[in-house]
Amino acid sequence: MRMYDLIEKKKQGKELTKEEIDYIISEYSLNEIPDYQMSAFLMAVYFKGMTMDETVNLTMAMANSGDTLDLSAIDGIKVDKHSTGGVGDKTSLIVAPMLASLGVPIAKMSGRGLGHTGGTIDKLESFRGFKTSLSEEAFIKQVNDIKLALVGQTANLAPADKKIYALRDVTATVNQKSLIASSIMSKKIAAGADSIILDVKCGSGAFMENLKDAEELARIMVSIGEMVGRQTVAIISDMNEPLGHYVGNALEVYEAIEVLSGRGEERLKELCITIASYMLIGGKKAESFEDAREKMERVIREGKALDKLAEFVNAQGGDMNQVYHPDQLPKAMYRKELLAPNEGYLTACKTSEVGMASLILGGGRETKESEIDLSVGIRMDKKLGDHVDKGEVMGVIFANDADLFKPAYDRLINAYTISEKLQEPEALIKKVITRKDVMV
Ligand code: URA
Repeated sequence: MRMYDLIEKKKQGKELTKEEIDYIISEYSLNEIPDYQMSAFLMAVYFKGMTMDETVNLTMAMANSGDTLDLSAIDGIKVDKHSTGGVGDKTSLIVAPMLASLGVPIAKMSGRGLGHTGGTIDKLESFRGFKTSLSEEAFIKQVNDIKLALVGQTANLAPADKKIYALRDVTATVNQKSLIASSIMSKKIAAGADSIILDVKCGSGAFMENLKDAEELARIMVSIGEMVGRQTVAIISDMNEPLGHYVGNALEVYEAIEVLSGRGEERLKELCITIASYMLIGGKKAESFEDAREKMERVIREGKALDKLAEFVNAQGGDMNQVYHPDQLPKAMYRKELLAPNEGYLTACKTSEVGMASLILGGGRETKESEIDLSVGIRMDKKLGDHVDKGEVMGVIFANDADLFKPAYDRLINAYTISEKLQEPEALIKKVITRKDVMV
């Protein structure tokens, strides 16, 4: 086989066989295919697309390119979740303890933040002493003991995806649905869960800006999961403004604790309950969505989910007192109020710009190597659909370097559109895609 011929074949829009895709992934992993040929191939895929069979073969080739986790030593159905990335998305911090408190084993690997999106692992480091890596043995034991362990993704999980993703990032080939779907699903499949719930974000802060594209991506991912024997559900949710009120690592942990304590912003709470309910059904611990929802509301009301978070933080070496006293989480030195430049209704938000404002403050990573400041970030008091008077406080910026207020402030003000006429915010849950919606 020659890579040249395979590039040519894809350029002509023909379907590659499993053997051809396996060849590309294994030879590229071994550095036998140079970046320039792989770049040309990715660009051919970008323009010609991939069939469902090709996408599944690509996914499995990448999933099998490194370690695959064997979770069979964990009792029960292992359920995992993944969000396609957004701003202020702290749902994992909330749904994982909710499910674990109901006996669903959560053995989860999460990523770090990059660019305008945050990562669960960074957020968890807001707890003093929290360890984000465990040996495989300790990881499995912890899930069996307390039903929840959450660690950083190991370097050798789907390494082919890591290499290809880095190349896509610099060759303008990230935004192709088969490539996104196979990249995400390869890691989820390698991480070993039986049932996968995907939160596909749709809107100004997401890869997919409109419902049609988000739905197409969701269908591809659900098809991949089901075709390889993992029960998969995708929830398409709104990302036309940050989720909840807070953006920033420790601030988002604070907000997650708020929700687990029975408070918190309504849409954030609703999304968490929805995701968690589908996970509970996936874990066969609920008969119906209504049953699952009632159980979720109960574990919050009775404080069981919050206690589970504390138990989990403690098990991974973190200070569980911070769960019950979130005022002890890292705090920035300075704060500045964000004032409405004119009167009207908040009608639109460039969500990724809010993420960029947090990044400017030091809360995010420009490159994989950047250090982050856990304490900084933004609180948005006003949400889409709210009215503001000129000069009214819309939110607060938290910083440790006062010189960063101005660039972050300008970015935030420019992110929001204030109009005379009220425009109702988009529905939070736009669609749910399950096995029956795809041809498997
Ligand atoms: N997240 C991933 O892991 N891969 C993509 O291609 C896009 C988002």
